[in-house]
Amino acid sequence: TELSKIRNFSIVAHIDHGKSTLADRLIQETGTVESRDMKEQLLDAMDIERERGITIKANTVRIDYKADDGETYVLNLIDTPGHVDFAYEVSRSMRAVEGSLLVVDSTQGVEAQTLANVYQAIDADHEIVPVLNKIDLPASDCDRVAEQIEDVIGIDASEAIQVSAKTGQGIHETLEAIVQHLPAPAGTRDAPLKAMLVDSWYDAYLGVIVLVRIMDGVLKKGMRVKFMSNDTLHHVDRIGVFRPAMQVVDELGPGEIGFLTASIKQVRDTRVGDTITNDRNGCEVALPGFKPAQPVVFCGLFPVDSAEFEDLRDAIDKLALNDASFSFEMETSAALGFGFRCGFLGLLHLEVIRDRIEREYNIELITTAPSVIYHVYMKDGEKIDLHNPADMPDMSKVDHIEEPRIKATILVPDEYLGDVLKLCQDRRGIQEDLTYAGTRAMVVYDLPLNEVVFDFYDRLKSVTKGYASFDYHLTGYREDNLVKMSVLVNDEPVDALSMMVHRDRAEMRGRAMCEKLKDLIPRHMFKIPIQAAIGGKVIARETLSALRKDVTAKCYGGDASRKRKLLDKQKAGKKKMRQFGKVDIPQEAFISALKMD
Ligand code: GTP
Repeated sequence: TELSKIRNFSIVAHIDHGKSTLADRLIQETGTVESRDMKEQLLDAMDIERERGITIKANTVRIDYKADDGETYVLNLIDTPGHVDFAYEVSRSMRAVEGSLLVVDSTQGVEAQTLANVYQAIDADHEIVPVLNKIDLPASDCDRVAEQIEDVIGIDASEAIQVSAKTGQGIHETLEAIVQHLPAPAGTRDAPLKAMLVDSWYDAYLGVIVLVRIMDGVLKKGMRVKFMSNDTLHHVDRIGVFRPAMQVVDELGPGEIGFLTASIKQVRDTRVGDTITNDRNGCEVALPGFKPAQPVVFCGLFPVDSAEFEDLRDAIDKLALNDASFSFEMETSAALGFGFRCGFLGLLHLEVIRDRIEREYNIELITTAPSVIYHVYMKDGEKIDLHNPADMPDMSKVDHIEEPRIKATILVPDEYLGDVLKLCQDRRGIQEDLTYAGTRAMVVYDLPLNEVVFDFYDRLKSVTKGYASFDYHLTGYREDNLVKMSVLVNDEPVDALSMMVHRDRAEMRGRAMCEKLKDLIPRHMFKIPIQAAIGGKVIARETLSALRKDVTAKCYGGDASRKRKLLDKQKAGKKKMRQFGKVDIPQEAFISALKMD
């Protein structure tokens, strides 16, 4: 296709502002798929994505559009992941296109996540077309939202297109704006191949599918190509485009977006942001900005039923095939037996993987407290990257500890501002900025990542009744007064409950933890001390009193089937418990005890 007839774009939007609905409309309006084949929301492929209302893997679609000027254009839409954990993937998708539609719900306004993504688009030098969606709703207020876009983002919104992705109003204008306002891609056909690896995923029939944007040169079936980040060679056995179903083509030229397959077995062998070139006489300089995936949040995953360890290994192996940013290694815990220490891009990523293991593989899991990577500097000069509080060396040998910090941007209606500031303050946050846009405040905080990984987002949603939006990025490491807090139940340390805390907060956290555990652990026939300790020093203590009455006595002499039922119930309950010395701790205790409220 001629470069001047190509337009490549992405859609930037906050969750629920209508990205998928709009994409579907664009596809439908151009007749890319017959209406009767149109499944609701074509772009979101996975169930979990649908349920959680987020887009995890980038998808793409190629649309042919006959414009009002009589010419037919090829429009390539790249769908970007919508969550903070995937900021790097978003940045690569943005580099693969020349423009963005900024979709804002005209009944709501700009959200923190929209801001983060639109800044990525601006960084990538995009031409940006603002689209005000949901104008069919009575609460729609285009003037206010257009003004807000200008105030907060600083782009011209005077020509924002007013759209209802629901009724189809404004869709034609949107297509025309894409053709008229977005630039055509640049590129040279007679140069060595230079293509960006934008995304990849595993397909059971075709192996790994690689989404590429051709910058220069031509990609053809049968070619041998080189992935520059790791110098691996691959024989291209298929290339094609998404309409949105896969369609095989003969070649992809400069400016085009499509896929290749090359009998690649693992998604791990393909790295987002990598440069693909010819195996010989390829391009000399790779595309800038490539970064290998770096997990930042770690936790242990253990099967509730230890007999399911091999099943868990299998599930994790399979998931890892399709997810290069998820890392794992075997872990043994005195408390929980065999399991895996896993690394994730962020909390949401962790939740998605955990849900998939439980749901798709039917394995009940115990998840230990999420932890970040601490830099532990030893007195002898050694530096340790600590992924697991259980591995914390003896404090007397430690010189100092550094923890990762983030910069968080929160947008919130005025009335909840006080609660948000308190929450950030409670989590050791340092306020950096506070500005207003209409009736909403934008606060920027410097926070320790560790204070955010557990339940910050849930708390934020609950104190603001869901009206706040949140976005963050890592800024670096800083030294602080950090210690390892251990928990002892009946004098046995429970390694899965140990955590790194700030010294000033240790007492409070320890007390809260002991109180929680006291409620969560059922009473036994004997008294159980529950303690929190730093080093050898106990900082909090509760005692769970002994059970007095023999409850099973009731069963004696009673109806035999009722007795059996009770015993079965007990057994089922037992499976969800873990034994520590003589004490049974229920599975929920591990997660609940770590929540701070
Ligand atoms: P994620 O895929 O979760 O990121 O959300 P999204 O931005 O893709 O939003 P989606 O298209 O799923 O739309 C969110 C909700 O808004 C859905 O219930 C849509 O039916 C509804 N919606 C989208 N566009 C319009 C519109 O123009 N008018 C009205 N009334 N509802 C709309």
